[in-house]
Formats: sequence, structure tokens, C-alpha cells
Amino acid sequence: MSFFAYKNGEMHAEGVALATIAAQVGTPFYCYSAAALRAAWKEFADGIKGMNASVCYAMKANSNLAVIRLFGELGAGADIVSAGEMRRALAAGIPAKRIIYSGVGKKASELMAALQAGVGQINVESSAELETLNAVATQLGVTADITIRVNPDVDAGTHAKITTGRKENKFGIDIDLAREAFALASRLPNLRVVGVAMHIGSQLTSLAPYRSAIARVRALIGQLRADGHTIDRFDIGGGLGIVYADEQPPSIADFMAVVAKETAGLGCELTFEPGRRLVGEAGVLVSEVILVKPGVSKTFVIVDAAMNDLIRPTLYEAWHDILPVRERQDTATIHCDIVGPICESGDYLAQNRDLAPLAAGDLIMIRSAGAYGAVMASAYNSRPLVPEVMVDGTRFAVTRPRLTIDEMISAERFPPWMEPIKS
Ligand code: LLP
Repeated sequence: MSFFAYKNGEMHAEGVALATIAAQVGTPFYCYSAAALRAAWKEFADGIKGMNASVCYAMKANSNLAVIRLFGELGAGADIVSAGEMRRALAAGIPAKRIIYSGVGKKASELMAALQAGVGQINVESSAELETLNAVATQLGVTADITIRVNPDVDAGTHAKITTGRKENKFGIDIDLAREAFALASRLPNLRVVGVAMHIGSQLTSLAPYRSAIARVRALIGQLRADGHTIDRFDIGGGLGIVYADEQPPSIADFMAVVAKETAGLGCELTFEPGRRLVGEAGVLVSEVILVKPGVSKTFVIVDAAMNDLIRPTLYEAWHDILPVRERQDTATIHCDIVGPICESGDYLAQNRDLAPLAAGDLIMIRSAGAYGAVMASAYNSRPLVPEVMVDGTRFAVTRPRLTIDEMISAERFPPWMEPIKS
């Protein structure tokens, strides 16, 4: 079921016309469907039924407080990668015990904040981090529950910028060096090793890489146990893909069946860290056409959303479906690029599309923008950070308002040696 659909010729998010939101909030804005978020969560909740497993939402995909809270109230923990994300998770009501702290470069100050808050698990990614964490834990007089993230060296078959499980990626400890790292961890008195973690990439559309990665880690777990380590938890990471164009990502049920089979008899509590799959298809970006500029080879449709609002097309050559908010009956199309107003040739949301002719003032909807959309937005060109809206049934609310330019610049300071501006 799609939570974004035409009703009476107007694109709706659940029971609310996007044009209604646009009139009230202005454009561009992100819009999330609460029902879609709940439905995505339910697939995971159903998928882990009967398994000794938990789901920690990878909030880097979308860290809007309302989104985190929605998942938290349904029972999610959070997978965080910074002290800032921890602050958000706690502010959204996620209990510290249900927080997992991942990341390749955690600072001592961040580790300290995490231990002070009492996060449930820290996934360590290097020997240097083991030493730093032990020092911080010693200073605080606590013991940190850790896993070590290993890099199983499998090809997730995704875009080069989002694959993480190859030897040449910076993430995790090379699986061939893992035993040494676990040995070091067990010698450090204020660390308690509870398990092993992996995360092999993002936007995976095949289960084969999970199968081989789990098999490799499973073999490692056997060795680690033989070495005398307690391995009670296996954090599988996230990475499941969604539909942008015509991908056919595996169902959560199929994914869980593979995981259950590959981990059968291992006796580990499993953790999942999905991000994109929980939020990606539940969000859209709505933008208004500023003007249409016909060119010789193609037409440029210049809209008021830009690469600073949604960087995925520019950064990953990502393809996002674009639909007019007012349903079109005509079959005529124009060959066009949908571009933003920013002074960069890389500022596009779509290239070489054949879309129904658009005119100034028309609204468009950019689909599958709920993950890695708003969170990766910037204020480049002094464009205010794009606001976020949540729809739930026939209600909607702005969950992150658009800052005014004055609010944006009010945080800046002139150096004291500059004379005050004469008005
Ligand atoms: N766990 C860890 C340790 C991660 O690094 C990530 C994502 C996840 C979980 C969640 O992965 P997901 O289920 O969302 O695939 N900005 C890129 C994606 C970057 C993913 C980074 N790590 C994009 O827009 O495609």
C-alpha cells in the first residue's frame, strides 16, 4: 500500500493534500507519513517474532525527533554515531540502555558522554578506540559493554560511496585481525566484551552478501569462543534496500529467514540496525517550480529545492522518482532536467527525465526521500534548512520549522576588532 497517492487528482500523504501543506508551510519541505513509518516498523517487528532479537533504528537516516519518538514508542532502540545523535535519541525518549553507539571515529569526549548516559552497547572499530574507551571507563569507574565491529570483506554490490564491508573500506576491524583485537579487549579491565558486530553496506538489494558475511562472522565467533571470549550478541547492522526506481529489495520476512538460518544454533542475541528501510519510502520532498527554461537539447525545470536539500542525486548519482502533485491526464512529456537554483552544475535532482510539462507554480513530489534526505541537508547559499512535516491520518504538524534568515545569521559573531556596523 502506498501512503502517498492521488485522491481527486491531488497527491495526498495519507489523508492530507500535499498542496494544503505547501500553502501553509511553504516549499520546499519534507513530508513523512506516520502510517508508512509504522508499517515499515511492523515488518521488522513481525520479522523478529520468535527470535531473540532487537531492532535499533539507525537514526542517521532520519533524525527528526518525531520520527525517532514514533519508533521508540513502538519499541525501537537507537543506533547512534555521535554524541549529537545520542542527545536526540534521549530527547525523543529512547532509554539509554536501548542505545547502541557505532562509528569509526568516536572522540574521548563522546565516549565519556555515552558512558555517563549509560548507553547499552558500544561497537568498537579499532584497537586505538579500545584503549581510549578503556581509559575513559576507568576514569569514570564503570565497565563498558562492547562489541567489536569486524569487517568481513564481502562485496555488498552497492554504490562505492555506501559500501562498507570491503577490506579497503575504513570500517570495522579486518576479520583476519579480529582475534588480536578481542584479545586486547579482554586484557583491558574496564571493557566487557559482549559480542561482535558487522555492517556491510547500504541499499542492498540481494541477500547473498548477508549470507556470506554472516557465515564468515559465524566462523569467527567459533574461534573467539575457543579463545575464551564470551560472545552473546551478534549485531548484524543495517543496509536493506528500498525502491527508488525498479529495484526489488528482499522482503523483511525473507531477510529474517536467511539470518535465522545462518545464525541457527549460535546462541546469540541478534541486533538489527536498519535505517533507510524504516524511513526511506515513508518520506517525500515537495518543491515548487520557479521557472521553466527551454534549451536546445533539453528543458531545465528550475525548482525551489536544491542539492543542499537533497544531495543524494549529486553525491551518489541516485535516482528519485518525481511526480507532479496535481495529477496529469495528458500524455505529453518534455525532456528535462529538474534542477535547483544553486550556482553549481551538480545542483540537480533529476537529469534526462521525460515528465509531463511543468510550469511556474506547479508542485512536484520527489519520492523515497525519507532516508538520508533532511539529515544530509545544508544551508549552502544561505538557504534555510528545509523544514520537516509529519502527517498522521488527516492531521499534519511541522516537526522542524524553517528558520528565518535572521534566525540563521543570529548565531554568528563579528570578531571584536571589527567596528560595529553603522546603521
Ligand atoms: N549501521 C551502521 C553502522 C551504519 O553505518 C549504517 C549506515 C546503518 C546501520 C544503516 O544503514 P541503512 O539501513 O540505512 O542502509 N547517505 C547514504 C547512506 C549511508 C549509510 C551509512 N551507514 C545514502 O544516502 O545512500
